[in-house]
Amino acid sequence: SRQSTLRTLYSKYQDRKPISVITAHDYISGKYANESEADAVIIGDSLSMINLGYQSTLEMSFEEFYYCCKAACRAIDRKFIIADLPFGTFETSAEECGRNAIKLMKLGKVQSIKLEGSYEITDQVKKLIDIGIPVTGHVGLQPQKFNALGGYRVQGKTATDAIEIFRQAKYLQSLGVSLLVLEAIPSEVAKIITEELNLPTIGIGAGKYTSGQVLVQGDVLGMLNNKPAKFVRQYKNFYQEGIDGINEYCRELNSDIYPEEGTHTYSMAQEEVKDLI
Ligand code: KIV
Ligand code: NA
Repeated sequence: SRQSTLRTLYSKYQDRKPISVITAHDYISGKYANESEADAVIIGDSLSMINLGYQSTLEMSFEEFYYCCKAACRAIDRKFIIADLPFGTFETSAEECGRNAIKLMKLGKVQSIKLEGSYEITDQVKKLIDIGIPVTGHVGLQPQKFNALGGYRVQGKTATDAIEIFRQAKYLQSLGVSLLVLEAIPSEVAKIITEELNLPTIGIGAGKYTSGQVLVQGDVLGMLNNKPAKFVRQYKNFYQEGIDGINEYCRELNSDIYPEEGTHTYSMAQEEVKDLI
């Protein structure tokens, strides 16, 4: 396989070079990710909102996620791929977790499975590692738990809460996770976690002191007109570009500019036209 591996990411980590990660949600975003300079791709369950238009990640079924994951994987042959396990596909037992993770691994492209949580998913993490699936942990803000959290809020703002996230991170490392996503926590907390652990941390809204960063591709490219979180930098405005492009097309139709005879049209030989009429 030409895909980069966990070793590729670890060598960047050892060289203290930032690991760049971007999400992919379907074939098109998979293509962009694959052709970019990003080191790795996360097929995140954020696709529930961005690709499928749901209000949260909770509503998406495993089948819907799997279908999108499969499409994204068809586009990616160069990058390390991490796939999420969606809400409701891993929590109730290690067996169910293992079965669903195996389905994603069987796509032949996914190299790590990401799970939100810590102590409560001990058996699940152990099961995946036993099977030989590298696990990516995810602590701090866990969007699948937004009901319990009372929304999508920064985590670890108080010393007590921060120490708890630090303990969860240490615990996941002790279980043997390979990578750890830190979401929406103060920079100071992410810095300490990154310094104290000996595995790469991938931050999203966790400041600049993590081993790498991940952003949702839809946010980076401005694919939708949603209000992005504070930590997002939107580099492009695909949403407006898209609408403008469609409008230009519509206006050219109305003003008889497109399609242009000859340039965009096929024609017949004159004698054939005669027989036609
Ligand atoms: O679903 C998602 O996009 C994520 C991010 C942290 C990458 O989990
Ligand atoms: Na996710």
